[in-house]
Formats: sequence, C-alpha cells, structure tokens
Amino acid sequence: MQILQHSMILTICSTKGGVGKTTLTANLGGLLASFGKRVLLVDADVQPALSSYYALTKQAEGGIARLLIGGDLANTISTTDAGCDLIYSDDPEGKLQDWVLHTPDGRTRLKYLLNQLKPNYDFILIDTQGAVGPLQDAAVLAADLLLSPIPTETMSAREFARGTLGMLERLQPMTHYTTLQIAPLYGLLYRVDRTRDAANVTREVRDALGGEGSGITIMDAMIPAAVAWREAATQRLPVHTLSKHPMAKLSLMALMAELPLGFTGEGVQP
Ligand SMILES: Nc1ncnc2c1ncn2[C@@H]1O[C@H](COP(=O)(O)OP(=O)(O)OP(=O)(O)O)[C@@H](O)[C@H]1O
Ligand SMILES: [Mg+2]
Repeated sequence: MQILQHSMILTICSTKGGVGKTTLTANLGGLLASFGKRVLLVDADVQPALSSYYALTKQAEGGIARLLIGGDLANTISTTDAGCDLIYSDDPEGKLQDWVLHTPDGRTRLKYLLNQLKPNYDFILIDTQGAVGPLQDAAVLAADLLLSPIPTETMSAREFARGTLGMLERLQPMTHYTTLQIAPLYGLLYRVDRTRDAANVTREVRDALGGEGSGITIMDAMIPAAVAWREAATQRLPVHTLSKHPMAKLSLMALMAELPLGFTGEGVQP
C-alpha cells in the first residue's frame, strides 16, 4: 500500500435515513485503520449510532458539541478498539442543530476545527444524519470528498437527485463569495441484492446520473446486501475481520481502490 499524500475529510451523507451511512462510515474507518492509516471518526448525527459502533478504549470528556461550541480540540478525541479515534455525539437533546443555525460561523466552524486536526490523521470520516439540517450542512461543507450510499431496494434515482443533489445545490451560494467549495460527490450503489428490482434501480441510477454534468460520480464499486454487515454491527467488529464473509471485505476494498483516497490501488484491488 502506498503512502498517502494528503489527509482527507470524507463526509458520508444522504438526505434519506437508513441508507447505510453509519455502517459504511464505521467499516470504511475500520478497514483504513487496519492498513495502518490514522483515522478519526466523527459522529455528526444526533442519534449517536456511530458513537457506540465500536467499544471505546478511552472516553474523552466531550464530543462534537463540545468541539463545536467550545472549540475544544484537546478533550474531545476518544479512542476505539477498532484502531480509529472518535469524536462522539454528545448532544442527546439535539440542541446542536439550533446552535449551528443561530451561530454566525455555525456552518463553517466544523471545517475550521477539523482542519486543525488534519495533521494528526490520514482520514477523517464524518457520519451525518439522514435528513437536511444545519449540522448536515456543516459536515458537507467540511468535506474534501462526499460519499453517498444509494440503496437499491428503496430509492429511485429521481429521489436521490431530488434529495442529495438538491441539498448540494442549496449550499452552492455559500461558495460564491467565500473560498468554500462543495466537494465532489460519489454515489455508491448500496445494499444491492440479486432481485430484478435492484437491477432496475441500478440501471436507472447509472442512466440518470452516470453521465458527465450530473454533478455526481456513480461508482463502479457496489456494496452488496449481506448479513455480514449486521453480524459485524452486533459483534461491534469491523466487517473485514469476519473471515467467514470475505465478500464484504472485497467490496470495501473495491470501494477504497476507486475513491481518490491517495492509494495507488496496489494491494487494494480484490
Ligand atoms: N451492506 C448491507 N447489507 C445488509 N444490511 C445492511 C448493509 N449495510 C447496512 N445494513 C443495515 O441497514 C440498516 C441501516 O444502516 P445504517 O444504520 O448504517 O443506516 P444510516 O443511513 O446510518 O441510518 P440513519 O439515517 O438512521 O442514521 C442497519 O440495520 C444495518 O445493519
Ligand atoms: Mg446513521
């Protein structure tokens, strides 16, 4: 595996809930850490699923609310037994959304603070809530790269376009008079099963969004639907460590090889 050139902030986002964001964030983080990469997971969802995905080996005093509101970089980094660090969600009442909304630099402070942490990490992966909101905006604006799972059993290409691409369009004016940029968006066909319906949705997504000018790259890599992902979550383990489910690891490796993460692909291709 080649040495990474720059550290990178990857935001896993979708305007739809339950599409696989947290699962993907945790497992991509776990796999990158297994390659010796320094990984920070950031739970920017008020429902703290990522925060409890892996067992903590050290719990910091606070998490994302403390980071954002207090600018506290020193007491917000926990560690997990999967080899990733974690900024957990410490906002049980969901007040952070309002805070972000009503604070002048609310939507841009996350980017500023995470950029301060970049020298310590190769990858910072942000998990977001599956609905439009100011904190999701902040996570999107912080990203160097956006990754959006598109589950083939529930969502048509049109819904995806309306939701996630619409959210990016809404943020576009923020880039006009600032140095902010909206990162490139990668769409990942996700939880793909062997049904005809999944094949139809896959084709629909590729036809509608696969071309140039759509604002999104639909990846060749796909993540199949498999029980392995649920088993890994139950056992609180990265899915690539479940040796009886090699396909899950292979699909994640294919994803990693295709994303512009700075790997040459050597040693990553299945
Ligand atoms: N590849 C997969 N195959 C089968 N099931 C999966 C796969 N990935 C995730 N799941 C399951 O799909 C469900 C939703 O996943 P997850 O919680 O990661 O979605 P989410 O987008 O983070 O949801 P939310 O918007 O509520 O935060 C979970 O039960 C998870 O175990
Ligand atoms: Mg989630």
